[in-house]
Amino acid sequence: MQFNEEIILKGLNLANFELKTHQLIDSTNDECKRISSNKDILVITADKQTMGKGRKGKKWHSPEGNISLSIAFADREFDLPISIATGILVKDALTEVFNLDSIKLKWPNDLVFEKKKIGGILVEKEVFSNYTKAIVGIGINLELDKKESWWGDFGDLNGKNLRDKIINKILVKFEALFRDGLNDWKNLWNQSCIHNDAIISVARNDEIIKGKYLGINDSGELLLEKKIGEIISFSSGEVSIKGIYNK
Ligand code: BTN
Repeated sequence: MQFNEEIILKGLNLANFELKTHQLIDSTNDECKRISSNKDILVITADKQTMGKGRKGKKWHSPEGNISLSIAFADREFDLPISIATGILVKDALTEVFNLDSIKLKWPNDLVFEKKKIGGILVEKEVFSNYTKAIVGIGINLELDKKESWWGDFGDLNGKNLRDKIINKILVKFEALFRDGLNDWKNLWNQSCIHNDAIISVARNDEIIKGKYLGINDSGELLLEKKIGEIISFSSGEVSIKGIYNK
């Protein structure tokens, strides 16, 4: 499936962006590591990835027609964790394009629709002697060829035909984040969180810790009340919630 670059770049300040589209690539995140750009923001998107990478070394299934998108830039201090910000803006982009308010976030940055995972975010950093490159990888399932029970997609909503528009919305929102930051991000994240006030389990290393979800802190870490007066923060881990996919 071809990309329409005119739609993807609509409304962006092109002085900031370099866009490269591919039909086939191993991983858009890896391609961002291999090449450099003289623009502030390098965007790589592919119709299909052969070696898509998920969090925690998992493989990310990326058949043709889905969203495999990476955004690379010289890392700098943001006033919020970039992975949390990306979750919010991708959720907002999908909400606007599909005109739905049921797309949710699951910590740390899974995108959830109808209780199934429809997208994820993988942030990587590459340290060079004079700067650090940040790479924000975004995968969204518009229409999967085969799915395990925990995966969802937007096949019923004509998702594949809206791909360029969704990528454009994500980039417009990313440009605003890059320029202005994001106010009130903890509240924005919590308003969209699928496990607000829920009793959840967090798997970290070999341990599973159960408690009440209390939101995220200034670093984007998850806060869990294990028992009254005992609050634990997590910077990594897998969350499971009753009734929601567990992968
Ligand atoms: C997750 O495990 O939830 C994160 C998945 C991130 C997948 C995206 S697809 C575009 C980019 N390139 C990759 O190889 N991975 C990310």
